Amino acid sequence: MEAGIPYDRHHPFEATLLSRRSLCRGETEREAYHLVIDIRRSQWHYSCGDSLAILPQNDPRCVSDLLQRLCLEPLTLITLPSSGVPKPLRLVLEEELCLNHLPKSFWEFLRRRVAKDGELYRKIPVGESEGWENFLKNHTLAKALELFPDFRCTAQELVEHLRPMLPRLYSIASAPTLFPEEVHLAIVMVKYEDIYGEKRHGVATRYLSPEGIPVGGRCRCFLVRSHFRLPEDIRRDMILVGPGTGVAPFRGFIWEYAAQREAGKETGRTWLFFGSLRRHSHFYYQEEWEELMARGVLTHLDCAFSRDQAEKIYVQHRLLEHGPELARWILGGAHFYICGDASHMAKDVEAALLQILSVHAHLSDPGDYLRTMRREKRYQKDVY
Ligand SMILES: Cc1cc2nc3c(=O)[nH]c(=O)nc-3n(C[C@H](O)[C@H](O)[C@H](O)COP(=O)(O)OP(=O)(O)OC[C@H]3O[C@@H](n4cnc5c(N)ncnc54)[C@H](O)[C@@H]3O)c2cc1C
Ligand SMILES: NC(=O)c1ccc[n+]([C@@H]2O[C@H](COP(=O)([O-])OP(=O)(O)OC[C@H]3O[C@@H](n4cnc5c(N)ncnc54)[C@H](OP(=O)(O)O)[C@@H]3O)[C@@H](O)[C@H]2O)c1
Repeated sequence: MEAGIPYDRHHPFEATLLSRRSLCRGETEREAYHLVIDIRRSQWHYSCGDSLAILPQNDPRCVSDLLQRLCLEPLTLITLPSSGVPKPLRLVLEEELCLNHLPKSFWEFLRRRVAKDGELYRKIPVGESEGWENFLKNHTLAKALELFPDFRCTAQELVEHLRPMLPRLYSIASAPTLFPEEVHLAIVMVKYEDIYGEKRHGVATRYLSPEGIPVGGRCRCFLVRSHFRLPEDIRRDMILVGPGTGVAPFRGFIWEYAAQREAGKETGRTWLFFGSLRRHSHFYYQEEWEELMARGVLTHLDCAFSRDQAEKIYVQHRLLEHGPELARWILGGAHFYICGDASHMAKDVEAALLQILSVHAHLSDPGDYLRTMRREKRYQKDVY
């Protein structure tokens, strides 16, 4: 184990949730929270860009429903090979196993058990076809069990066919110099409707919301080191592109520059591109950005609120509006960072960056320049 980080998935640190506040204003279509977590006693020395891995707990109501549906005794002792320690079934289901997906192995086990001539059974897709994959994707364990109300199994059979609960990573949103004994997180709730129109929520984000651990409660976690880092030379300028939850590490980056300036060091300029749904309700950390601007640490702030007008305005549109000035920053040695959604946002932002390098920095091979920036760690992405 790495010195100073003596905790991992199998030996997590029990941290205390010190506070939680909403990052949104008013009734909104999306919930987001700022969490402060006490890491004293962990001996961690985290850096800007690191993440905290949280081992969440399943919703106790889902666990009760499952136990009831299968007529299982919550106190039955179960020993998982990963821990080797006997624990009551209820605790194992709450903490150790993933319940919000339908694992293939459980489904195959269930199919072998149920009557093969049933009408329902025949409707269920078989084989490795797309239908089969979609069935697994669209059904939770609970939903699959609803299809077979008479199905029963032992506690041991149940746990053998479920997958382990995986840790979820959250970018640390605090500056280590200012908060060496705390980590701050910015969490956006995962909520959606499944194909049956039923409301579903993400396991970890529910657990970290007011529905989950109370303030003062304990959560299991460990530190995950990152490649995503501040410039080695803090006199360098930073361009930070972080829509939605992507803004989290940049709060840490900019406050760290502020702390270094307080300590008498010279720091570069900082330019934050933040994107979110609506200015009124989803302008995460607005007061802090204003304070950092007043202090002269955050030198430029541009926002893209996508749902305040009929057409979508995204961070890459703001980047393109400032193409000539951004080209000057980049050619002058600025570091360019992207954090957040990998599926669309990061690709679109990279395309905008290439366009700026081509049109405004007049580079004949912007792709090659970007590769050089990456090698020099002047172009860094933390996308998920
Ligand atoms: C390096 C890193 C840093 C991260 N930092 C942050 C951060 O700072 N803040 C933050 O909030 N998150 C962050 N994340 C994401 C975070 O780790 C979790 O993935 C996220 O919070 C969801 O976890 P969950 O347990 O709530 O959802 P899960 O229970 O894991 O559910 C997510 C699953 O729900 C399903 N799903 C979700 N939406 C839909 C939909 N519309 N329709 C159908 N199915 C759907 C999908 O199967 C999806 O895989 C980060 C991830 C990484 C890798
Ligand atoms: N791998 C993952 O599981 C994963 C990855 C990222 C996010 N998420 C989940 O998505 C939810 C919200 O995530 P978030 O807070 O980071 O982001 P978000 O709030 O959904 O989005 C932030 C802003 O980015 C905009 N946007 C959408 N598409 C974009 C694009 N192609 N380029 C640039 N901007 C774009 C959004 O606009 P519109 O929405 O109005 O179009 C919004 O204004 C959370 O539930 C999070 O967990 C999951």
